[in-house]
Amino acid sequence: MKIAVLPGDGIGTEIVAEAVKVLDALGLKFEMESALVGGAAYDAHGHPLPESTLKLAKEADAILFGAVGDWKYDKLDRPLRPEQAILGLRKNLGLFANFRPAICYEQLVGASSLKPELIAGLDILIIRELTGDIYFGQPRGRREAPDGEFKGAPEAFDTMRYSKPEIERIAHVAFQAARKRNKKVTSVDKANVLETFQFWKDTMIEVHAQYPDVELQHMYVDNAAMQLVKAPKAFDVVVTGNMFGDILSDEASMLTGSIGMLPSASLNSKNQGLYEPSHGSAPDIAGKGIANPLATILSAAMMLRFSLNQEEAAQRIEAAVQKVLAQGLRTGDIWSEGTTKVGTVQMGDAVVKALAS
Ligand code: IPM
Ligand code: MG
Repeated sequence: MKIAVLPGDGIGTEIVAEAVKVLDALGLKFEMESALVGGAAYDAHGHPLPESTLKLAKEADAILFGAVGDWKYDKLDRPLRPEQAILGLRKNLGLFANFRPAICYEQLVGASSLKPELIAGLDILIIRELTGDIYFGQPRGRREAPDGEFKGAPEAFDTMRYSKPEIERIAHVAFQAARKRNKKVTSVDKANVLETFQFWKDTMIEVHAQYPDVELQHMYVDNAAMQLVKAPKAFDVVVTGNMFGDILSDEASMLTGSIGMLPSASLNSKNQGLYEPSHGSAPDIAGKGIANPLATILSAAMMLRFSLNQEEAAQRIEAAVQKVLAQGLRTGDIWSEGTTKVGTVQMGDAVVKALAS
């Protein structure tokens, strides 16, 4: 089993180090190889996703990814910006299915900004399509407005698009995931305004015919954003496009107390996967040793489950995380009165210790 370890930028290096420590402590045989990605790779090699990093990622069974990005790269041409590394990996490896679970741990009910009764026991799964939509649609760019009131003025444009097979395959992923859960899928669209998402909705309905045992509900994205904070427990599996999924998954993370708790998995059709925390590189706290490594550690658990066929090891990690939370250990982002504030390394050490006991 080969794992490509790509820590990236900002807090990426700190949190991935803790996840690697936890993986090492499992006593399983992995080959782990690290490479630079994002701004770190740009600094060293002049490109955020060097050929050598892409090759390593393609050859690995799974990729453990930290985060990329830093304000200091904002002025670079878009193809050289750190974010292109993660987008390039998703596209090159065909990682179209992004799983972003939002689970509210009992011990963290108080860390959410929502009322405890709304989120206690919350367990929803956002499935975000990850290689299509306006993120990748061509053409895009800047030009002179070809028509309309502002004809001739400078304008920028992107293209929102989905092909039918792209929608079908993510629909299958969602219905199959729902079968293992509470058999309910909410497909989030904007069919009232956008052609792309009317097509999305029509295709969802077609694929649903093969899953009569699963309930399918449709919801406009604006309403979904509202329902997520009004009655989040009414959701089970949420399936949506790339851009809506980007936004709704950040929103959902806040239901759980902190985005520092949210793992994610991005899979292709061969179950090869990239595993990363749902949060970013947080350059404002990088190097301070205070970042929460749990989302990355939980991403490593998802990696064991989905790509490396090690369900038992995945559960061991998840149980260890529960245990350190029960011990009252908290990084700053989830800290509350009466709990013990710890740093990144201490949190990682505590998970390793909990694995052993
Ligand atoms: C995410 C991030 C990325 C995205 C950025 C870093 C390109 O926000 O994984 O949600 O927009 O997909
Ligand atoms: Mg995002």
